[in-house]
Amino acid sequence: MANIETLFVTRLYRAELASRGPGKRLLDELMQACVSVASDDLAGQAWCEANAYKGYTSYASLSDLPWRSPAFADLTLAIDPHVAEFAKSTDMDLGRRRLVVDSIWINVLEPGGHHGAHIHPHSVVSGTYYVEVPEGASAIRFEDPRLPMQMAAPPRRARAARDQQTFVSVAPKAGTLLLWESWLRHEVPVNTAETERISVSFNYRME
Ligand SMILES: [Fe+2]
Repeated sequence: MANIETLFVTRLYRAELASRGPGKRLLDELMQACVSVASDDLAGQAWCEANAYKGYTSYASLSDLPWRSPAFADLTLAIDPHVAEFAKSTDMDLGRRRLVVDSIWINVLEPGGHHGAHIHPHSVVSGTYYVEVPEGASAIRFEDPRLPMQMAAPPRRARAARDQQTFVSVAPKAGTLLLWESWLRHEVPVNTAETERISVSFNYRME
């Protein structure tokens, strides 16, 4: 009798952080903090304009969000145990080291905005916490990391099981936390919502 194993698994971690009291409060605080930083950060606005980023990101302009608003410091405290759990679930051998937040930034994606496929270099775990996800807002789409090696491989059936698909879309809602290993390529297709989609992304590195 044949035996089929599943090898080289790619894990995606999802948790809903805003379903209970403190999480809901944090979500409200983050919403206000994101809007306030986005309207104050002139350097960030200029960068988005110069780089044709439809919306706002603090990625290129601010490295002190937790200092600007306690909501971001609280968010990293809330995320830390999830990152540790994710690392455990992937059997990462960290030795005496641990994963610490390296950078955290805001993304405000306007209707019609998108974010092309990319990875997060120099990091171990990356992820996004979703603050505002209006109806019709973009999902996030992950790409099979083996894709560059699949030169002559036939495409998968349209109805292939989720773990056999080459591209997998995940639709978040407000309060969703997603974590993945930083080498996993992902993109945000065009935002077809009528209002902005707001999220906070971050990288964790080994310390
Ligand atoms: Fe990303």
